[in-house]
Amino acid sequence: MRILGIVLACLLLLAAPALSEEEADYVSDFSYWADGWYARSNGGASVFLTDHGAALGIEGRTADWHSMGRDFTLAEGESYQLSVLVRQDEADEARFVLSVAHSHQGQESYENIAVATAKRGEWTEISGTYLAGQYERFVLYVETQGAATLSYAIKDFVLRGKTQAFGAEDLPSLAEAYKAYFPFGTAVTYMEAVNRPRMDFYASQFNILTPGNELKPDSVLNVAVSRMLAAEDETAVAVHLTAAKPILDYAQEKGIPVHGHVLVWHSQTPKAFFHEGYDPRRPMVGREVMLGRLEHYIEAVFKATGEQYPGLIVSWDVVNEAVEDGKTSLRDSLWKTVIGDDYVERAFEFARKHAPKGVKLYYNDYNTAYEPKQTGIANLLKKLQEAGTVDGYGFQMHHDIRQPGYRAIEKAFKRIAALGLCLRISELDVTVPDPSEASFAAQAKLYGQVMKLALSYADQVDAVQVWGVMDDLSWRAKSFPLLFDAWAKPKPAFYAVLEAVQD
Ligand code: XIL
Repeated sequence: MRILGIVLACLLLLAAPALSEEEADYVSDFSYWADGWYARSNGGASVFLTDHGAALGIEGRTADWHSMGRDFTLAEGESYQLSVLVRQDEADEARFVLSVAHSHQGQESYENIAVATAKRGEWTEISGTYLAGQYERFVLYVETQGAATLSYAIKDFVLRGKTQAFGAEDLPSLAEAYKAYFPFGTAVTYMEAVNRPRMDFYASQFNILTPGNELKPDSVLNVAVSRMLAAEDETAVAVHLTAAKPILDYAQEKGIPVHGHVLVWHSQTPKAFFHEGYDPRRPMVGREVMLGRLEHYIEAVFKATGEQYPGLIVSWDVVNEAVEDGKTSLRDSLWKTVIGDDYVERAFEFARKHAPKGVKLYYNDYNTAYEPKQTGIANLLKKLQEAGTVDGYGFQMHHDIRQPGYRAIEKAFKRIAALGLCLRISELDVTVPDPSEASFAAQAKLYGQVMKLALSYADQVDAVQVWGVMDDLSWRAKSFPLLFDAWAKPKPAFYAVLEAVQD
């Protein structure tokens, strides 16, 4: 009886093995009770030890998702490096997926983390990064794609939490180094902001923050409430700041100013915004209603941010990316379709009318270094300047070491600077074709050149902002575009940015 009790207690303990917070690393060791791994299936599949206990096999599968899985306690907002070796002996090759099943309030959902193709009889690595979301339960598992009945095995499953690297090195602060010239900032997203050690690390390097997605219309427009209000008034608009909250709360607490991004854009904007009753199945509204919505949206965003975070947001991208690539004219967008070509000017008028005093209004765009778009941007800025509605221009600067080349960047900067507006580099990142030493040296060189350029216009430059901190969380993660690697280790580009101001 007593022995049975102990066995039962052990089984319960093993049912959901967890990593304690201190022990952020996990390396599989199947030697004891399969180390908490079990078969995920609706019957039939089972796991077994193989390779003299070094590996864990699975057999009896009848669906791709039938797999070996294990529960992990992961910290929300922490990013994890994962790798595992997989092997199969039944097919010439088979495709495997490393996935996570996560549950929130009992609702399970899934994400694929990485894929690999394993040839018969070869241990093959699958590796990837997972940024843990807001869930109570996480199961990591290795499944197949198009090989529902295949038997296979895994070994050497490794999980490492990356935030443990924050603050590991005593680094000079970029914000501190640039303090006399302009704020040095970064974009940050919701999932980064919910992780305090990460944010403290960011705050040691950056002194202006901009939400990477969370102040865009698809985060801010409250479609459900707007739809209700539209029954009375088609121009009514409701907004909420739920997505931006962790970022704005942190910035407010630490006294770090925020650049708002973005009020009007062709992308990341709900289609419903442009339809009668905010219902995409109904016809689009006319120009007058849309102008009403545009004004009310801008007014509501300034009001909500001003009331909940007084003084925190010092500048806004009012309109983003309005000029077409390879042209001087405006790109097609629902804003242009419904309102017409003057939507940009109207947006700036409304922004000027409703913005809190002192908040700077920016037009933001990319590919400024290319003609004829550069001319299109300059023309648009001049028009807005004449109307007195724009304060600055944001150069996104999503570059690559191979193009457009520093000369073109410099020339564009000079031309726009001559208009006399405030300037910012709003979204700096530089991709590389491969993670080689030579590529990272070229990347560092371009970062250094761009920073020197900004310094030479320091009187006019309001801020330089990189578009993210660590390579693995970048929107262009595959091309390693940022100042820190996936382990928060400064890259040559970090030192180039630092040296640019120290020379
Ligand atoms: C990007 C974000 O970084 C991604 O997370 C998102 O999926 C797409 O948008 N120009 C902009 C930014 O103005 O808003 C874009 O940000 C990058 C290009």
